[in-house]
Amino acid sequence: MHKVCFAFLGLVSLMVCAEARAGDDPAKSIETGTERLSLDKGWRFHLGDIPFPVITGHEASYANAKAGKAWGAAAPEFDDTSWRMVDLPHDWVVEGPFDEKANLSQGYRPRGISWYRRSFKIPRSDKGRDLEIQFDGVATHCTVWVNGIVAARNWCGYTSFQIDLTPFARFGDDVNTIAVQVDANAMEGWWYEGGGIYRHTWLVKRNPVHVITDGIYANPVQAVDGMWTLPIEATLVNSGREAADVEVTSFLLDPAGKEVARGNNKGTIGVFHNTPISFTLPVSSPHLWSVDDPTLYQVRTIVTRDGTEVDNVTTHCGFRTERFDAQKGFFLNGQSLKIHGVCDHQGHAGVGVAVPDALFDFRIRLLKEMGVNAVRCAHNPPNAEFLDACDRLGMMVLDENRNFNPTPEYIRQLQWMVRRDRNHPSVIIWSVFNEEPMQGSEAGYEMVRRMSAAVKELDTSRPITAAMSGGILGGLNVSDAVDLVGFNYQQGNYDKYHQSHPDKPMTSSEDTSAFMTRGEWADDSAKHICSSYDTERAPWGATHRDAWQAVAARPFVAGDFIWTGFDYRGEPTPYKWPSVSSYFGCMDLCGFPKMAFYLHQAQWVLDHPIITLVPHWNWAGKEGKPIKVMALTNADSVELSLNGQVISEQPVDKYKMVSWDVPYAPGKLEAVAKKDGKEVARASVETTGPATGLKVIPDRAAATGDGWDAFPVTIEAVDSEGRVVPTADPSVTFEIGGPGKIIGLGNGDPTCHEPEKGDVHSLFNGYGQVIVQTNANGSGPLTLTARADGLTSSEASIQVNAAPEPPFVPGLSPLFSLPRWNMSPVVSSAPDPNLVVAENDMNSWTPVQTGHLQTFSGGTFALYRVKFQPFGGIQQDGGTLIFHSLRGNAEVWLDGKHLGTKSDAKEGNLALPFPSGGGDRTLTVVIEAQAGQQAGLNGLVTIEPGVSGGK
Ligand code: GAL
Repeated sequence: MHKVCFAFLGLVSLMVCAEARAGDDPAKSIETGTERLSLDKGWRFHLGDIPFPVITGHEASYANAKAGKAWGAAAPEFDDTSWRMVDLPHDWVVEGPFDEKANLSQGYRPRGISWYRRSFKIPRSDKGRDLEIQFDGVATHCTVWVNGIVAARNWCGYTSFQIDLTPFARFGDDVNTIAVQVDANAMEGWWYEGGGIYRHTWLVKRNPVHVITDGIYANPVQAVDGMWTLPIEATLVNSGREAADVEVTSFLLDPAGKEVARGNNKGTIGVFHNTPISFTLPVSSPHLWSVDDPTLYQVRTIVTRDGTEVDNVTTHCGFRTERFDAQKGFFLNGQSLKIHGVCDHQGHAGVGVAVPDALFDFRIRLLKEMGVNAVRCAHNPPNAEFLDACDRLGMMVLDENRNFNPTPEYIRQLQWMVRRDRNHPSVIIWSVFNEEPMQGSEAGYEMVRRMSAAVKELDTSRPITAAMSGGILGGLNVSDAVDLVGFNYQQGNYDKYHQSHPDKPMTSSEDTSAFMTRGEWADDSAKHICSSYDTERAPWGATHRDAWQAVAARPFVAGDFIWTGFDYRGEPTPYKWPSVSSYFGCMDLCGFPKMAFYLHQAQWVLDHPIITLVPHWNWAGKEGKPIKVMALTNADSVELSLNGQVISEQPVDKYKMVSWDVPYAPGKLEAVAKKDGKEVARASVETTGPATGLKVIPDRAAATGDGWDAFPVTIEAVDSEGRVVPTADPSVTFEIGGPGKIIGLGNGDPTCHEPEKGDVHSLFNGYGQVIVQTNANGSGPLTLTARADGLTSSEASIQVNAAPEPPFVPGLSPLFSLPRWNMSPVVSSAPDPNLVVAENDMNSWTPVQTGHLQTFSGGTFALYRVKFQPFGGIQQDGGTLIFHSLRGNAEVWLDGKHLGTKSDAKEGNLALPFPSGGGDRTLTVVIEAQAGQQAGLNGLVTIEPGVSGGK
């Protein structure tokens, strides 16, 4: 995206191409456009905690309290060379085995504490720019150190956070190090939350005068006279040293990229002072955003200072209105629209919570096919990329806050969500909580009042709800503090509440909680199987059909949010071990449809005929016995026949659908759907033969070879006629060829304990799924081959199209450097290199950093000293000690022994063999310079593997 030159609009002075300018000289680089570079590649990962060393002694205690002196695995010089390399997004919990002793709610997978580290360089030309590290999501708690400084502590696994690296960034050959300790023992939910840096990470380089992260608020507004405007509020900050006068200009571009409006305003940005600059763009007759026609406009905002661009930010928006009516429910763009919603957690088969962006599109597409028009992000803010996909594909969102708490840290988390998400046309409701024990109390009311005020400070265009599971009809309670009352279950209270509160808009925020195992048609508690006839439900829930009928029959209930669209790991209700994932989904963990998918499709898709016939027709051994058959259809009646013989034609109840008991005989069961007596669609199921082969079906024909794109591949077990065998569970081995890799495997069976990583997985009831991700710089055919004992193997190819990798910061092998030294006072005669300084003397010597020279006033000699432990490999084999750019004559002493000499006062490098050995090492350099001249360690001091001779 940073390659885009803003050459539109004829603004010659704004014709800046960010990429072309990167790497210019420092003075110019301050003017360079903003760059957002991925940090996802090249992390080192350690499974398990690395306890911090116990600190004793005055010197260490003193150092421990100082900026930049992090210890243990948090220290820049920590040896992580043996750690495994991983790319983000990464969820280590999904890589682990299942364990009966682990938490059932979290899917019986051990969580724990782990570490990530990453090294990278920043070109010298970036000195003067503002540098920000962004973490989009880390599960669950984490502490981040950058260059040895504790830089962030994050307490919510669903909230992003940023680190201002500018003051302590290292440039040129010097290496920056990020160390992250992730505590996934901390839990925020009762569902699978994963563990690790499971969303994207970025390094953003900007001019010191710039728009803050999430600093553009651009959400269209329609006035009562019908006229549209786009109010812009750009919040800028200035990390430079002087106040700056700027002009902010926003351009509204229609979907064809044509400018349709622009506006601007000027302001002065004080140093370190967040400053909003506001103005309004009038917009005439915009094309509206809706679920069927999700039209998006781009908003390009450019900041100029003295006529030169200093920042540019592109956001998008959609023009749409929304309204919740206490009598008639929800209106989008003035038209009544019943909400056909599902609640969903964020994981997917094979990848845990580290979901590649492209899979969000896949999941939303499936939901749309089912007739869903809204997703409730239960019970936390989703990935930003999920909301982008909802905007693009036309899916409304109930955006939910994680923690119910009105104290400052939690208000900060809530306001972060609103600030990040308020430009998305898809977001129609804010939810401040889900099912809180204090919901029916005055305390709950007071808490929500405060949280609601915090939301309204930032956005008044959407109603605030709270998903309440009780306490709604008593005295003062949370429902009195929200704009839209959210009902979790309690369907028996819809009418009572409406009668007592006729002016209060209502929606179901959660209902159903019914159970189905995909492809299974009889309960079997011994095998942990739930039948798919929509008969099984939680005691607090309802069947799919009853839950929808209760909502559909009441115009004052804005809509439905089914628990859930997809199965998710954890909460394996109604079972426990060995069940490890949920049974609630209309689709399984992979997105393979269950009967509930087809049921809601029949209830919710009204613009074309729908009919699906269930169950499958492989009932060998049950010949002559009645099998319950259901047609899921939006037609008026269905005629069912078996092997050409009509059984009967029956009217369809739009809620309950239609069913028959059919004595089983193998063959073909066929249903003809009719409207006004005429056939509109037909469906059939056939008895298949045994599985003889496999079929590999990629979700699409082409993928992008950028290393980010990913897609699911369906694997089917088929009979000799190519029909899916609904009872086949073969174990399949996969092989990938070409520019891609397998990143996860699944089959949707909630009792399956097979690893989700690797290249072997069984199918479940005929189906399995492989998640494939392209390689960076990939192009050409990518082939997936599936093999199983006794079955014909199958192979499918998809075209990977070359595409540039999104801009990223290269990772580095860890470099052992010694940046921080202590320097003695300058003296006039050669000092003893082994001079002892008392352990409690923190003041006689001065801390100095490599990369800087010191003036030798009043003398000609000084000692430079550092204590350290080199990387394990160097301790074992030795290495080469390199002084880059040492100025002055020098004698180098290690642990009291002379190691080498530089007898040239000019600045130059000195390389010396570094002997092996464990424990603390002490390096002392005696530097001699002329009085009044500058000398010292002007470049890095490194110890590198491999012994090279002296200089
Ligand atoms: C609800 C809760 C959900 C899930 C569901 C299972 O009470 O909000 O998170 O636990 O029950 O039925």
